[in-house]
Amino acid sequence: MKPGAKPRTLDQSMPGEPGREETIARMIRVDQAGEYGAARIYAGQLAVLGRTKAAPTLRRMAEQEQRHLDEFNRMMIERRVRPTLLQPLWHVAGFALGAATAMLGEKAAMACTVAVEETIDAHYRRQAARLGDEEPKLKDTIEEFREDELEHRAIALEHGAKEAPLYAPLTFAIKRASRLAIWLSERF
Ligand SMILES: [Fe+2]
Ligand SMILES: [Fe+2]
Repeated sequence: MKPGAKPRTLDQSMPGEPGREETIARMIRVDQAGEYGAARIYAGQLAVLGRTKAAPTLRRMAEQEQRHLDEFNRMMIERRVRPTLLQPLWHVAGFALGAATAMLGEKAAMACTVAVEETIDAHYRRQAARLGDEEPKLKDTIEEFREDELEHRAIALEHGAKEAPLYAPLTFAIKRASRLAIWLSERF
């Protein structure tokens, strides 16, 4: 989208693009996948760091991810949206990412949160713009969750994320992987 250009509304899809219903279904599908992945990342981190001083912070963020996930699960049932076919992959990959970063240390675990939340922030921002004035309830939910994600990012930074070894390449790789996961979950 060009800067300053007005985002297209849901009814203005290009030829060959999914229509309104399918666009919304895909949004809910990818968001549920993302929150599911987030919950799994924290589960992985807590499996490693569950008895450290980082645990209460991780647990608090994990609880919020669960709340986000519950809400998208509820929406899926309400709107009869199927989950992504890749859920079993996110089950394993999310946990593995969480556990692997936690094994690098508390700060690397926090760096993982920064990378994931920055990706989700951009993703939710794009979705909210695409929704425009339509689907106000869905849009409010996305905006509300986006604020929680930014808070998680702030918490992670407060906990020394940037002092993690290899912060730059680590967050770069995790952002790349997160964007790929979004791309895949929107399509499958
Ligand atoms: Fe979340
Ligand atoms: Fe989060």
